[in-house]
Amino acid sequence: METTQISDIKIIKSPTSKIDSVDFETLTFGKQFTDHMLVCDFIDGEWHQPIIMPYAPFEMDPSSRVFHYGQAIFEGMKAYRDAQDEIWLFRPDQNYERFNKSAIRLAMPEVPEHIFMDGLKELIKIDANWIKKGNGNALYIRPFMIGTSDGVIASPSLNFKFCIILSPVKSYYSGEVKVVIADHFSRAANGGIGAAKAAGNYAAQFYPTKLANQKGFQQVIWTDDTTHTKLEESGTMNVFFRINDTLITAPVSERILDGVTRKSLLAIAERDGIKTEVRSITVNEIVDAHRNGSLKEIFGAGTAAVVSLIAGFQYKDEYFELPQVADRFATQLKEKLNAIQYNEAEDTF
Ligand code: COI
Repeated sequence: METTQISDIKIIKSPTSKIDSVDFETLTFGKQFTDHMLVCDFIDGEWHQPIIMPYAPFEMDPSSRVFHYGQAIFEGMKAYRDAQDEIWLFRPDQNYERFNKSAIRLAMPEVPEHIFMDGLKELIKIDANWIKKGNGNALYIRPFMIGTSDGVIASPSLNFKFCIILSPVKSYYSGEVKVVIADHFSRAANGGIGAAKAAGNYAAQFYPTKLANQKGFQQVIWTDDTTHTKLEESGTMNVFFRINDTLITAPVSERILDGVTRKSLLAIAERDGIKTEVRSITVNEIVDAHRNGSLKEIFGAGTAAVVSLIAGFQYKDEYFELPQVADRFATQLKEKLNAIQYNEAEDTF
């Protein structure tokens, strides 16, 4: 294996590549990984040298804190290749900032910028041939951190592993989804970890989502935990509602993730003259709007899918089918955001 040193990053190149065994036309989201990963350990109160090395399993003590108390956070972002073969990251500084906010909330050390950003850029350079041209093709970037101290004492880990892995992805189009509005289960509560990208937030959604799947729905729209009347997120995404020609989404809070895609879609909408409202929106409001014909669209917004169209929603025992509207805001906004991400349009917001 070839070993080099770039500033303080140690690089151990994989002697072989898996790339020829991958069919880039039939990728399943998040199943294939590139040849390398970045790993950096925090031990005895300090960050050690980051290493880019061949993608491989970790060996860990079975009593490691992450396995017992879920001390784990992650981020999701993408790299794109433009028509001129240049590679672009979309606002990685926002993911970096949010990662460290999540770290603080989960009693983990913040990752220094040079480890996260320089490490990410170097890793992407090494595995750049995994990023294919063409709208929809991208490299999904998954930075994460776990508590690695051994011992099942319920106290924060002292040692941590920060890692970045890369997964080539295609357009995340799974068609329109039918959703259930939560009237019992909650994703997050005030004072909790809903605003952090903590692994446990996602694990906690699996059971209610499984119940929804069994009834023929693909996702849950999460409501506030105290009254279950305010609409907050959709599956793993932020959620937008279009009533007449106004686009509405809930404000970020202790329960709602400050989504990069959410912010970007809001900014594009405002720039292009779509009326936006960032405010609480209730189940009753959308049920009434559906009954009087003013509810036009609902869609989720996140890094993986950009937007996920919602065909209809179930609330208690009633199903509300959404109308098929021409010129959907969801489609327009997704195209405009994609154009910026693939460097086909100027970033003017
Ligand atoms: C996102 O789209 O923002 C995500 O975090 C998706 C991930 C949970 C697969």
